[in-house]
Amino acid sequence: MKSQYVEELRAGQTVKEIFVLSKKSIKDKKDGGSYAVLEFTDRSGSIEGIAWDNVVESVNMLSTGDFVFVVGNVNEYNERLQIVVSSIKRVSENETEPKDFLPQTDEDISQVFEEINNFRSKVQNKYLKQLLENFFDDKELIEKFKRAPAAKRIHHAYLGGLLVHTRNVLKLADEMKRVYETLDLDLLITAGILHDIGKIYEYTYARKLDFSTQGRLLGHIVIGYELVAERIKQIADFPRPLRFMLLHMILSHHGEYEWGSPRRPNFLEALVLHFIDNLDSKVEIMMSEKKKNKGMEKEWSDYHPYLEREIYLREDY
Ligand SMILES: [Fe+2]
Ligand SMILES: [Fe+2]
Repeated sequence: MKSQYVEELRAGQTVKEIFVLSKKSIKDKKDGGSYAVLEFTDRSGSIEGIAWDNVVESVNMLSTGDFVFVVGNVNEYNERLQIVVSSIKRVSENETEPKDFLPQTDEDISQVFEEINNFRSKVQNKYLKQLLENFFDDKELIEKFKRAPAAKRIHHAYLGGLLVHTRNVLKLADEMKRVYETLDLDLLITAGILHDIGKIYEYTYARKLDFSTQGRLLGHIVIGYELVAERIKQIADFPRPLRFMLLHMILSHHGEYEWGSPRRPNFLEALVLHFIDNLDSKVEIMMSEKKKNKGMEKEWSDYHPYLEREIYLREDY
């Protein structure tokens, strides 16, 4: 774990710490020579950095996105803090912990995973059970499932976000079953667990939350469809109608064509999955907007491009 985070840095301090080099530009000085304007980032924020003549050479060897070990001093310049870098060098990813550099859920990841596992154990249908086992026995995939975000910016955009979102969808599925008793819970739980599984490859989340190339080109619905279809194939005699229904639920969970859904829900469980998925993402957006604005005495949030509205923030009435 890091011992110095950006948000804790104060003028006058000495820095000896790892950051992500998030920006870099080399500039010419008026009197010849050059200097580098940099930006360093960790999970708590970003800070500007400046490197003069003798350090520029080391900066030249670095690329943005690199993990770097920075030695320097914190100065105040134009009412902003900056690190005056006295030495900088690249460090390998193995020397770092992802959660130092990316926001992470406040919840206990292994506990959330256990909750998901409990839902999984309720599934009775032997084919769906086997399919879920196939996924859960894949250690590498599960490690990614535990870490992946559910979005780059919009909702659950932090490590563990996919896990928290998936757990919420499953809890909502359970509630739906209480109200609409004829729902097939086996199908709803299985599709609930797998509906966003494509997100584990849609994003990169080692040092920066971003879309992967695969994610940009295919998106999580198609990636998830492929993953599930492949694993269904490995199960002998998996019933064809069940295969189509499960795959349909992945393809239709965004609900509308304009929301990137190649299909619209054509049966009950698919419809319910779409609404609980949509509900959880929108509730999370509103909750995080409120959290972000807490203590600011603002009545309205800024315009939210995804919700296409401002959010009313007052809690007293
Ligand atoms: Fe989705
Ligand atoms: Fe989702």
